[in-house]
Order: sequence, then C-alpha cells, then structure tokens
Amino acid sequence: MIEITGLTKGFGGGPVLNGIDLSIAPGERIVVIGPSGTGKSTLLRCLNFLDRPEAGTIRVGDLTVDAAKATKAQILALRRRTAFVFQNYALFANKTARENITEALVTVQRKPRAEAEARADSILGEIGLAEKAGSYPAALSGGQQQRVGIGRAMALDAQLMLFDEPTSALDPEWVGEVLDLMRRVAEQHQTMLIVTHEMQFAREIADRVIFMEGGRIVEEGPPAQIFDDPRDARTKAFLRRVR
Ligand SMILES: Nc1ncnc2c1ncn2[C@@H]1O[C@H](COP(=O)(O)OP(=O)(O)O)[C@@H](O)[C@H]1O
Ligand SMILES: [Mg+2]
Repeated sequence: MIEITGLTKGFGGGPVLNGIDLSIAPGERIVVIGPSGTGKSTLLRCLNFLDRPEAGTIRVGDLTVDAAKATKAQILALRRRTAFVFQNYALFANKTARENITEALVTVQRKPRAEAEARADSILGEIGLAEKAGSYPAALSGGQQQRVGIGRAMALDAQLMLFDEPTSALDPEWVGEVLDLMRRVAEQHQTMLIVTHEMQFAREIADRVIFMEGGRIVEEGPPAQIFDDPRDARTKAFLRRVR
C-alpha cells in the first residue's frame, strides 16, 4: 500500500503542490492528466525526492517518510522502492543499453555485478532488445531508447513505477511500441503512476484517472466516469481542449 498525505511543494513562488492526498493499492494503475504547469511532474518527482517536498508524508510499504524531516537514509530507502521513467529517457550517453540497465542495480541496489548483468540480459529479452545490448543510446531509435528507460525501471523491481509523459518526446512512429511495453509491464501487476496525454491509452490501462489542476487533485474516478461523465467544470474544459 502506498499512502501520500498533505504533500506540499513550492519553488520560492506560490505552492506548486497544494497538499496532495493519494492512496494507491498494490497493483493499481493510476493515470494523472491535467494542463501543463499544473504540478504533475512535480508530484512524481517529489515521490522519490528528485524534488524535495516541503511537507507531507509518503508511505511505501513498511517505510514512512515525513518530508519535513526526511533523512538521507530514508530518501535512499524511498528511492529503492520507486522507479522513474523520464520523458526524455535520461539514459547515460556513454553507456550501452545493457550498462544503462545494470548501473542502478549495482550502485543503488548494491547487487553483485554478475547478478546485475544477468538481470539486465533477461530484461533486454523482455523489452525485445537483446540484440542491442551493446549499442549506445545514439545508435538506438527514440522508441528503443525509451524501451531501455522502461527496462531500467523494470529491473529495479520497485514497489511503485513512476512514468512522466513517457511518449511525449517520441516521434509518432515510436509511440506504439512504448505503449505496448507499458501494457506488458501492467500485466505483471506492477503498481504504476503514469502522467500521459495519451487519452485512449489512459482509458484502456487505468484503474483510476486523476485530473489535476493548480497543484490539486480536482477530480478522480474510473476512466469511464472521468472521460465520459466528468463532474467538475475544469475537467470538462480540459477534456474539450485535448480532444
Ligand atoms: N525546478 C523548478 N524551479 C522552479 N519552478 C519549477 C521547477 N519545476 C517546476 N516548476 C514550476 O512548477 C509548476 C508545475 O510544474 P510541473 O510539475 O512541471 O507541471 P506539469 O508537469 O503539470 O506540466 C510550473 O509552474 C513550473 O514552472
Ligand atoms: Mg510535466
């Protein structure tokens, strides 16, 4: 179980996250939608302290972190329980696909190198890139790079996977293969929190859709309700704009 309460963050100006409360059940797939600049990325980034929240608590399994007084050890422990997939892939340019996957296993999870490499090879098979193991990111298509980005997150066996617009930087021709891989991850009952503008995909994959605006959760519910029968005027206006 994942439980977020009162998560608050600003960047010196006004608050960007206004006290977010959110419970996520094991294996639940949540899609977050909302206008740009509304705090979606900040929410995901605060959940593993890529951005440091000012207040609130984050509980992942047996670990509870009070943001206001989080210790280094707690932040590391939280990062071991979460995995992040970035919009721009964020691969190491000077590392091969295989090395990009082993890196965090060795440095964050302290797995022996041989074990990390065996895990990377098995993941490369799962993401359909076994024959690209020795390729550097520059030699891979955008779709292949993002599949490595997802593979790297899969390898961590995290309790929560965070996806921040994983297809937004891709040429249209590569979007399908990345969404297909995310569907396969979902089939493994992985708990997923996904920010995306792919509304059809959201409808199909989400157990719950959250509409955010102005650093708050405005409305949430099953996809059919949010997409076909939104209650809040702001949700309605947003969905009219993106359709
Ligand atoms: N590192 C930062 N420094 C200052 N302001 C930031 C930073 N990151 C995000 N913001 C601001 O926080 C707000 C929410 O940003 P973000 O979470 O990226 O929104 P979204 O992902 O919904 O588009 C925006 O106004 C943005 O300018
Ligand atoms: Mg964003």
